[in-house]
Amino acid sequence: MNKSKMIVSYQPIEWKGDMVKLLDQTLLPAEEVYLEITEYHEIMTAIKELKIRGAPAIGVAGAYGMVLGAMQILAKSKATFLSELHDVAIAISGTRPTARNLFWAIERMELAAVKGKNVEEIKTILLKEAKKIHNEEADATIELSKNGQELIKDGYTILTHCNTGPLATTGYGTALGIIIYAHMQGKKVQVYADETRPLLQGARLTTWELRKIGIPVTLITDSMAGYFMKKGKIDCVIVGADRIAANGDTANKIGTYSVAVLAKENRVPFYVAAPTSTFDLSLSTGARIPIEQRNQAEVTHIKGIAIAPRYVNAANPAFDVTPNKYITAIITEKGIIRKPITNRKISDKQLKLM
Ligand code: MRU
Repeated sequence: MNKSKMIVSYQPIEWKGDMVKLLDQTLLPAEEVYLEITEYHEIMTAIKELKIRGAPAIGVAGAYGMVLGAMQILAKSKATFLSELHDVAIAISGTRPTARNLFWAIERMELAAVKGKNVEEIKTILLKEAKKIHNEEADATIELSKNGQELIKDGYTILTHCNTGPLATTGYGTALGIIIYAHMQGKKVQVYADETRPLLQGARLTTWELRKIGIPVTLITDSMAGYFMKKGKIDCVIVGADRIAANGDTANKIGTYSVAVLAKENRVPFYVAAPTSTFDLSLSTGARIPIEQRNQAEVTHIKGIAIAPRYVNAANPAFDVTPNKYITAIITEKGIIRKPITNRKISDKQLKLM
């Protein structure tokens, strides 16, 4: 990716000659460790274990995973190569089910591969396409961050959930991108960051990113959001998205739905920020978005330490769906989709015309 697009010193993912360099987000904020990955199964593990996470960044990782998978295929005929590449695509698609960006990126990679005349050309095309996806996703977050500015006034205090910054997107960020851009424009903004149980992306990553950039941040537990909204401390909520259905229903990190309901109750605007690669217009409503169910140990333990009795039953849905009626607007790189979304579909045309 073009380095001038980076506003921070770290990069969550980079292509380095014949390997992927990846910042292990599970070790942050204690350690900044970069992994060098040459094998697509390692990319799969990194995605599953949240070493790389956040919908757009997962898509970029999936695309580079396809490049690594292609490098490992020995077949010489185009037909056999494409068939084995499809097996790689299926395997990578199986890592995490909710973020649309992963499937969007893999579909793009497979469509690009077909255009190659022979195996060598396909491999070249795949690397080019992965870099293009990486670039475009970064650009999209820059554009949506600019578009979001009309909603952010100088002096705003913004509540956010999970982590949606450069780490999650490879660009400026989605929700955090808008906040970071506001800060770059000289607006005095501050953030209340939900810690985001169970894996603490808010506590570990959002605070880390905002402090590096110099934006004031107050860490709160997820259950404190309503308290601060009722006290009138929050001007608006901005969150990211993992998948947005055709009616605007939005899947995002577990806990987002509760924040949205609290925002409506307290008359606080609730904004979703996402690139259009996160939209899944094939799904009429959010009820059809697949929700990832993760290991119970992520709830019963924190960093390997048990916080519950042994063998207690725990549930761990990683995402929830916020119905469109709670969403004030969706901010994309193509423009802002404003209310009322209710009972109306977001069409391809609407997205293109914005
Ligand atoms: O499980 P994660 O850490 O991948 O979840 C990330 C989120 O829920 C983000 O809010 C979402 O991907 C949008 S951010 C760019």
